[in-house]
Amino acid sequence: MAQSNLYSRVLGTGSYLPADRVTNQDLADRLAKQGVETSDEWIVARTGIHARHFAAADQTTSDLALFASNNAIEAAGVDPQSIDLIIVATSTPDFVFPSTACLLQNKLGIKNNGAAFDVQAVCSGFAYAVAIADSLIRSGAHRTALIVGAETFSRILDFNDRTTCVLFGDGAGAIVMQASDEPGVLASALHADGSYSDILCTPGNVNGGVVAGSAFLHMDGQAVFKLAVNVLEKVAVEALEKAQLTAEDIDWLIPHQANIRIMQSTCRKLRLPQERMVVTVGEHGNTSAASIPLALDVAVRDGRIKRGQNVLIEGVGGGFTWGASVFRY
Ligand SMILES: CC(C)(COP(=O)(O)OP(=O)(O)OC[C@H]1O[C@@H](n2cnc3c(N)ncnc32)[C@H](O)[C@@H]1OP(=O)(O)O)[C@@H](O)C(=O)NCCC(=O)NCCS
Repeated sequence: MAQSNLYSRVLGTGSYLPADRVTNQDLADRLAKQGVETSDEWIVARTGIHARHFAAADQTTSDLALFASNNAIEAAGVDPQSIDLIIVATSTPDFVFPSTACLLQNKLGIKNNGAAFDVQAVCSGFAYAVAIADSLIRSGAHRTALIVGAETFSRILDFNDRTTCVLFGDGAGAIVMQASDEPGVLASALHADGSYSDILCTPGNVNGGVVAGSAFLHMDGQAVFKLAVNVLEKVAVEALEKAQLTAEDIDWLIPHQANIRIMQSTCRKLRLPQERMVVTVGEHGNTSAASIPLALDVAVRDGRIKRGQNVLIEGVGGGFTWGASVFRY
């Protein structure tokens, strides 16, 4: 029987943004050509977003995931063949199946037959994936995990709907986690309430060889806003209590990067100084499951997040889903 491990620990982080950086003005100019009116001023004031990146026409989610994964594997200094668990959090997979995680395993040339699967929890996907990987590592079932959040949300945006198309972007972030005797993930909390499935959804499926329903993202922005602010505070407090920590013990808060107003409100409710929150929404837009690992990698690489510090990540998204993890970096 596999021996259980004390902790799972983050060994390295990586991320990738596609080359096409689209500012609000670029987007407003593109949309104006099709008669859709928006402005840099409106987008910045309501969301804090200044720019986002869009994948090239021939780039898939697994392509973005591959770049981010290679960066994380290099930072972690592990042999890719030792990775026995790959979880990709995504709502924009390359295919209906096989999973993006299996495609990524193949692109990475990993031949060890470890487990690989996708997690579908929309913008909470990375928080879900970290909690799942932590459980599988601590149980002794797996030892070294590659956890990725990767999205090509531009593919499901309706560029005639200004209330949604200005909010999202593409990208990928990844971490390598390994079994360790030293503290790593301290606690996680995951939740869902399917009765809110219609306020943020892409309600289409493949039927008889064609898409049935709508393959575009639909959102009731105000309902999502209210719910997000409420559950993000609650789940952060729950994860902190499980870890026997208080907000004062947190060096860095990395919330899902959807909207600066939601993020600032969460930070205030937790009584954390805004300087302790990592903010990348301005440059990345909302990259759904990729947003937390992208922000984490930015703050690790620019030296803000240091070894031994406590990091609180939390996500909220379609489903409705929400979740948080506290870890010692
Ligand atoms: C989407 C969101 C930014 C809209 O902001 P809001 O303050 O609620 O704005 P409203 O929807 O009330 O719209 C206000 C006005 O702006 C207009 N508007 C909407 N999108 C616009 C855009 N891109 N450019 C210009 N005007 C826009 C609306 O048509 C409306 O005009 P009206 O008053 O003439 O009807 C906000 O609701 C939000 O951030 N929600 C959460 C979204 C989110 O985070 N989703 C992901 C969660 S994982």
